[in-house]
Amino acid sequence: MPPDKEKNAYFLGTDAIEFERLKNQAQIWKPFSDKLYDSLGSMEGKRVLEIGCGPGFSTVDLAKRVGSEGEVCGIDKSQMYLQFLENESHQLRFSNIKTQKRDLNTIELEKEQWDFIVSRWVHIFVQEYKRLVSQEVKALKKGGKLVFQEYFHFGGISLSPECKSFERFAKAVMDFYLSNGGYTDRGKELPTLILAHPSMKILSIESVYQTALPNTPLWKWFEQFSFQFGPAFVSQGLLKEKERVSFERDWKNWSEMPGAFFTIPPLLHIVAEKAV
Ligand SMILES: C[S@@+](CC[C@H](N)C(=O)[O-])C[C@H]1O[C@@H](n2cnc3c(N)ncnc32)[C@H](O)[C@@H]1O
Repeated sequence: MPPDKEKNAYFLGTDAIEFERLKNQAQIWKPFSDKLYDSLGSMEGKRVLEIGCGPGFSTVDLAKRVGSEGEVCGIDKSQMYLQFLENESHQLRFSNIKTQKRDLNTIELEKEQWDFIVSRWVHIFVQEYKRLVSQEVKALKKGGKLVFQEYFHFGGISLSPECKSFERFAKAVMDFYLSNGGYTDRGKELPTLILAHPSMKILSIESVYQTALPNTPLWKWFEQFSFQFGPAFVSQGLLKEKERVSFERDWKNWSEMPGAFFTIPPLLHIVAEKAV
């Protein structure tokens, strides 16, 4: 059952509409996450910590990878998302999924517990992200891997042919993150933060940068996000109502325009390893 409104949620919220958006997003992005997880080698029997797991769409995929001898623990501050994951895990008869309700800004993780620590779209929301990376490095076993999927260059987003109202709207998205304590481009800093720990080395850094044609899943994914959060940008004074209306009108027109295309905000995939 989708969660309802929740107090102290992060700034995108955890209501039923946002739950559905995350579910849809997880399906659309699954091939990219699968490719990243495939590149990590066998996870069979391993202990995996998923930071900011949300309703656990990726946690369930990871639980299949570790099998019955392994364990996946999903951490999030949303009790409703964690409850959904627990129910799902019960229904699917997974005995290897655990959850912990924790705030990532203040979390203390135990030393050298996990073979893999993974996260997707999380550090962009966390103010104490430097501290969080240190905690993640500490909690990793020797020889373990840290795996990040985060935006690093949100300004790479574009709508073609050129669309001024879209450019204005894209700026409002970035301002929305900043004014709520997040940062869309946090991925830029992650490699240097990881390497500040002498025990760590970077194994790979790759970007996922896709072009979407009108009304394809990636096109609809951004449409869902922007139509859902546009009113919040207006109420927070980051966009004028008439700019929001122009953007939505233009986006719909571009959706019908032969030759139109959209480039997604590029996502960074980082894999780093702790020395044995
Ligand atoms: C965009 S969602 C991504 C969820 C999941 N990783 C996925 O790929 O579907 C971000 C998640 O981070 C969690 N989050 C944000 N800030 C947090 C914090 N300070 N402590 C714990 N969880 C946090 C939210 O509750 C939400 O579930």
